[in-house]
Amino acid sequence: MTTPSKVLITGSSTGIGAIYADRFAQRGYHLILVARDLTRLNQLAQQLMQTYKVKVEVIQADLTQDQEISRVEQVLQQDPNIDILVNNAGMSVSGSFGQQNLNKIEQLIALNMTAVVRLSHAVCQQLIQKKSGAIINIGSVVGLAPEFGLTLYGGSKAFIQYFSQALNLELKDKGVYVQAVLPSATKTEIWERSGSDIKNLPPMMDANDLVDAALVGFDKKENITIPVLQDENKWKDYEQLRMKLLPEFSTAKVAPRYQKV
Ligand SMILES: NC(=O)c1ccc[n+]([C@@H]2O[C@H](COP(=O)([O-])OP(=O)(O)OC[C@H]3O[C@@H](n4cnc5c(N)ncnc54)[C@H](OP(=O)(O)O)[C@@H]3O)[C@@H](O)[C@H]2O)c1
Repeated sequence: MTTPSKVLITGSSTGIGAIYADRFAQRGYHLILVARDLTRLNQLAQQLMQTYKVKVEVIQADLTQDQEISRVEQVLQQDPNIDILVNNAGMSVSGSFGQQNLNKIEQLIALNMTAVVRLSHAVCQQLIQKKSGAIINIGSVVGLAPEFGLTLYGGSKAFIQYFSQALNLELKDKGVYVQAVLPSATKTEIWERSGSDIKNLPPMMDANDLVDAALVGFDKKENITIPVLQDENKWKDYEQLRMKLLPEFSTAKVAPRYQKV
């Protein structure tokens, strides 16, 4: 008998997370769904159990709250059948940084960064022991584009990209794979929730297409998956240029342009 493999997905009551739940259930995984809206979580769980004959547990948790993150951490530490963690829950806040409400700013930091770090940390040890498994983190193309004007949200997503790249380097030789998915604008409730002006929305990718593309990247074990990027050589060039900077970061010499004349 094979052990049942489980995927824990945060923010899976709707949007991108709910589609990940559907796709992993379709692949035969049992699920643990995490979000705040218990009614929606239970409805989705029922539907997925009926359709795919998999087991689905739900955890109602607000991942901006320390003690509620702790409950999910415990599950990740104690359930040896969890093989994949999808850090999907995230939020945005509209408006310019200076005008954003400080409570909202703190919530965004807690959800988009602190929860991702804590949950990844919680699952890490058991994945390393098993020498298998994966962590999928949902970033955003905004993390590569300060020009888009989403200062705080973009900063949190740039963190996700760096964290995922670095963690993948740390874990890949231990048999654990880390992927960052960088969606572009995708049709979900996030826009309404963040208070975005509905009249000024960019073209939106369908959330089903986004997740299906992200899973193609997952199956290829890509570290960074950018479904909207048409020419993958542009990403390769970008990474090669970045790598060219690295040798100089390991020297101790002040560059001539900064030397006192
Ligand atoms: N949609 C886009 O255009 C887009 C583009 C780039 C990246 N992304 C990223 O994709 C991810 C998913 O976003 P989405 O577009 O699917 O958003 P969404 O439709 O607003 O869904 C967000 C999910 O996160 C959950 N969530 C929100 N606050 C939470 C909290 N405090 N604690 C626990 N769960 C919480 C929500 O459920 P409850 O309300 O039930 O808690 C929901 O299930 C996010 O990380 C987002 O930043 C989205």
